[in-house]
Amino acid sequence: MNDQVIHWHAVGQLDALDPQYPTRISVEGLDIALCRVGDEVFATSNMCSHAFAFLSDGFIEDFEIFCPLHEGSFDVRTGEAKSLPCREAIEVFAVKLEGNEIFVALDNRKEE
Ligand code: FES
Repeated sequence: MNDQVIHWHAVGQLDALDPQYPTRISVEGLDIALCRVGDEVFATSNMCSHAFAFLSDGFIEDFEIFCPLHEGSFDVRTGEAKSLPCREAIEVFAVKLEGNEIFVALDNRKEE
């Protein structure tokens, strides 16, 4: 069914994001890393799937976010693990831009 209402949360502004480093935000208590690639923005879980590290302390290269602890990486578009030691995907969230304003939705969250 596609008639569900999406709940968008205003989380910041595009021109405030550093394209080299993720920005840590919280949406409904969920820790999220915002990544700017060109004029696109992606939102991923901020916790590495390998061990305890915040991805917002890492860096961005192309469409990958690199963990600060062992430099494993994830595709910011899909959450797929791209380099070892990361093997498990991380969650990604829907993002939309309205001009300079960034909105994130948690609605596509898979319930575990
Ligand atoms: Fe992230 Fe090891 S904790 S790569």
